[in-house]
Amino acid sequence: MKKPIKNNVSWVGKVDWELQKFHGNEYSTHKGSTYNSYLIEEEKTVLIDTVWAPFAEEFVDNLAKEIDLNKIDYVVANHGEVDHSGALPALMKRIPDRPIYCTTNAVKSLKGQYHQDWNFRVVKTGDKLDVGNGKELVFVEMPMLHWPDSMATYLTKDNILFSNDAFGQHYATEKLFNDLVDQCDLFNEAIKYYANILTPFSHVLRKKLAEIVSFNLQIEMIATSHGVIWRENPMQIVEKYSQWANDYQENQITVIYDTMWNGTKMLAEKIAEGIGLADSDVVVKVFNLAKGDENDLITEVFKSKTVVFGSPTIANSILHSVAGFIHLMKELKFKNKKAAAFGCYGWSGEAVKVINGLMGDAGFEVMDEGFRTQWNPDVETQNVALEYGKGIARA
Ligand code: FEO
Repeated sequence: MKKPIKNNVSWVGKVDWELQKFHGNEYSTHKGSTYNSYLIEEEKTVLIDTVWAPFAEEFVDNLAKEIDLNKIDYVVANHGEVDHSGALPALMKRIPDRPIYCTTNAVKSLKGQYHQDWNFRVVKTGDKLDVGNGKELVFVEMPMLHWPDSMATYLTKDNILFSNDAFGQHYATEKLFNDLVDQCDLFNEAIKYYANILTPFSHVLRKKLAEIVSFNLQIEMIATSHGVIWRENPMQIVEKYSQWANDYQENQITVIYDTMWNGTKMLAEKIAEGIGLADSDVVVKVFNLAKGDENDLITEVFKSKTVVFGSPTIANSILHSVAGFIHLMKELKFKNKKAAAFGCYGWSGEAVKVINGLMGDAGFEVMDEGFRTQWNPDVETQNVALEYGKGIARA
């Protein structure tokens, strides 16, 4: 159903309350998501983005109940990923000749995914499209935020920035606007989205934010493609992005481990206790990888200044859960973070060395040779682990 957002602009997207995993199984979405599509009805009628493919028919049918599809003059595809372009094939069957405004790279991604020769109109940063009533769309390329094809579209006079994925959150709500939802939920989902999707592109984002500011666009609303529309103080999320894009960290040390017979777990808790004893201001959190959610843990890593990793030694190496998680952190290209390693072993004891090697390779500053102990930690060894934690806090 069409929901008005401002003047002649409406939301026509899909709220996906049941979504639990996104990007295949790569991203947990505890609070569902939305695929936001927008309809501009000025002298010209414009559709900005569509929805994910499973909702394509529903989307097009609903849209056809709201307007005669033949009245759509232009389609804007800000991004080719299937959660926004997935209804294009169903839509374009109904209006096959309608021009699709998108970047050069979006033509490649849309053709590559749908193998259709639609009526593409390539746009670059600064290109404008008159929509009547004195209003224009202005296009801003956003390459690698987060695909090469990404762009944003700005509607003059209404001063709405359709930012696509940027500034979004996987957050299902019927409320549409940022000021109408629980602020903790909203910002938890916004930072998780940044940490898990945008961290590798922080250096690109820093330049793009500066460029957008240099345009002096008056921005009264940021209409993202996931989650809420930022209408109350929309620049607050831009300011957050500016912080997050600058090698963000809080005063937090996070201990992450996996364990087989709880020896490494015991070390994790003693190290955390030591950190807390040595620094009463630092936030200390402990997570068992096997029992946690990887994307939530990535958000904790994003907030941390130091991450302490633990694994027992198995087959001269580490548990695959720890190896997989470090690989995920490497993909995300975290900067400005320290790391330390710990773990129990029975006989060969390579885990700590392996973790340190992988963490260094993932771009973390490895603090020392790590802490390892043979067999189950006795009281004396637990105290040494506690002292090791104190050392991490003081470093
Ligand atoms: Fe929400 Fe990159 O798609």
